[in-house]
Amino acid sequence: MTSQTHPLRVLSGMRPTGRLHLGHLKGVLHNWLQLQDQHRCFFFAADWHALTTDYANPGIVQSTIWDMLIDWLAVGIDPDKAVLFIQSEVPAHAELHLLFSFITPLPWLERVPTYKDQISQLREKDLGTYGFLGYPLLQAADILIYRADAVPVGEDQVPHVELTREVARRFNHLYRKPDQPLFAEPKALLMPASKLPGLDGRKMSKSYGNTIELAEEWKVTEKKVKTMPTDPARVRRTDSGTPERCPVWDFHKLYSTAEERGAIQEGCTSAGIGCLDCKQVLLGHLEAELQPIRDRRIAIASRPDTVKDVVRAGNARANTEAERTMEKVRKTLKMGYRV
Ligand code: TRP
Ligand code: SF4
Repeated sequence: MTSQTHPLRVLSGMRPTGRLHLGHLKGVLHNWLQLQDQHRCFFFAADWHALTTDYANPGIVQSTIWDMLIDWLAVGIDPDKAVLFIQSEVPAHAELHLLFSFITPLPWLERVPTYKDQISQLREKDLGTYGFLGYPLLQAADILIYRADAVPVGEDQVPHVELTREVARRFNHLYRKPDQPLFAEPKALLMPASKLPGLDGRKMSKSYGNTIELAEEWKVTEKKVKTMPTDPARVRRTDSGTPERCPVWDFHKLYSTAEERGAIQEGCTSAGIGCLDCKQVLLGHLEAELQPIRDRRIAIASRPDTVKDVVRAGNARANTEAERTMEKVRKTLKMGYRV
């Protein structure tokens, strides 16, 4: 991307589905931290999105939304820089979603790749619902209601931003003069997938049980790392190993210095060091990264009213911004009755 001199309006959402882990930190939150310093950012908890798949379990959202918001604050997402809010606290998202639903051809939604993928992946849930088909359109409303220029997303979400652009174009085409579009077309800011695997070498994911949670106690992290699988060829301390066959090495690639990596390469392939020695180096880096987050998290969680104040203020800002757009939308659709 060319260097940006004026700030963009950036919007992104995250579903409250559980406690955040290191994969979220590396894949998403570090990216948000950079963006909040340069741009006008809106970050929200996508609670309605969570209900599109977890409609049978509404309690999940209630119990995870605060954990997630506190995790955001603990890693340094800063309410003085970014607007933090909860989607369902800005009901205009639902209104815009409804208005978009009138103009969106069904095949646009049916061909979104996540639609069929998710239905077959989450076979235990009945996702043959109206709301599930329409959720990328809700996402389009989330984005367009803030007139976002840029939307940081993972690769799987790029088609949703593409759909958002098509909906913006169709709305402008149907209702506005060609030289007076209401919605600008936002761009996807592709966030590179996190290079950090889970503890077992697969993708870090709650459903695989291979995560390091941001909020867990240090003792728990320590135990998880100490019991991480290593190169299967190193059964005994005296067996030599190959770092490239070991998930611990993937962590070293992200956390350790070139010097430390050199010593591990040498020590592992010659059986000069044991796996616990190797893991100890990693634990030092993990502790340095996680401990400050955990200390802040404990301090923040002990002041739930402050967290609520932050979110209340964010909700109010978001509502003001959303209403500004909705007034124009209603006027465009001749719905401003002013009775
Ligand atoms: N659908 C996104 C996800 O599942 C979350 C999301 C909802 C979102 N609305 C958004 C992301 C708007 C970016 C912009 O991860
Ligand atoms: Fe893996 Fe380190 Fe053990 Fe080598 S020494 S097998 S890199 S944990």
